[in-house]
Amino acid sequence: MTRIYFNEVVTRDGFQIESEFIETDDKIVLIDALSQCGYAKIEVTSFTSPKAIPMLRDAEEVMGRIQRVQDVEYTVLVPNLRGAERAMESRADELNLVMSTSETHNLANLRMTRAQSMAGLAQVIQHVDGRTPINVSLSTCFGCPMEGDVPLAVVQHFAQRFADLGVRGLTICDTTGMAHPAQVSRMIELLQKQLPDTQLTLHFHNTRGMGLANVLAAVQGGITRFDGSLGGLGGCPYAPGASGNICSEDAIHMLDAMGYDTGIDLNKLLNVARHLPAVVGHDVPSQVAKAGRITDLHPAPAYVNDLKGS
Ligand code: COA
Ligand code: ZN
Repeated sequence: MTRIYFNEVVTRDGFQIESEFIETDDKIVLIDALSQCGYAKIEVTSFTSPKAIPMLRDAEEVMGRIQRVQDVEYTVLVPNLRGAERAMESRADELNLVMSTSETHNLANLRMTRAQSMAGLAQVIQHVDGRTPINVSLSTCFGCPMEGDVPLAVVQHFAQRFADLGVRGLTICDTTGMAHPAQVSRMIELLQKQLPDTQLTLHFHNTRGMGLANVLAAVQGGITRFDGSLGGLGGCPYAPGASGNICSEDAIHMLDAMGYDTGIDLNKLLNVARHLPAVVGHDVPSQVAKAGRITDLHPAPAYVNDLKGS
């Protein structure tokens, strides 16, 4: 059975776009519940500027108070050296650095050109010097909401530069839900050939309803690591309407039904998912939490039994 490794990003990618502050205690209770579900990794928070992302201004407190479970890696998003120092002080298991493969999106999100980001992140990698494993999330790899196409060669170029700097993993992000399955197949075929020793993770948003189709294309092309967000929360502040990471429980339910080993206790996860609307104060786009698993059957109406008997 193929093992699939899930990274739960709801409290980072999911929460950062919520309009109402989510209380620190609620974040901790949620992360502790997710830690019991069998995830390989949880992206807890980000060590960004509290002015840029006020939702995650409590990053130190959250990292300090969660109950860490063995075998779960607690990763955090880091935009710069200052963030890396804060993350290491908080004993993060991994630093997830971030930059966009699109110049315009990088300027909008990080206020830097790609060249400035590349130089800054190279400095972070050098400074960390192997003390903590590093992953780099490359945003907008399947298209930029402002520029349009991002050439595959550009994605390959940045992927190679980070691989050459010795990072453990790369996350190929479809930040605003522009990827389609044929594009995913082509991208992962090339990247897996190019970087056989780098852990590749795929990060999809379901903005245009292609999220699970993209997961399927990736898994069938040999990818075993995915980011997902509980309830399908998430978005990108620079692409209005670009809501929704792929919903973790829906993706895990699909892969589980197909016979993949996700390591996740789906019943436990669905229980956690069903509490999420109360935490964020609104309905969420997940489907399996509402409909139940395909194995959750319903009693037939009484007249069906009568018809069977006659
Ligand atoms: N942690 C805490 N504070 C930070 C910080 C960090 N990692 N990086 C910068 N700051 C603070 C600075 O101290 C400064 O504070 P001050 O105004 O009180 O002096 C302020 O943020 C601006 O710093 P500056 O170096 O000029 O950065 P900037 O304004 O160009 O912002 C980023 C750059 C990347 C740090 C900021 O835009 C950011 O954190 N963005 C969030 C990106 C993100 O997470 N996007 C969504 C996910 S991909
Ligand atoms: Zn995202």
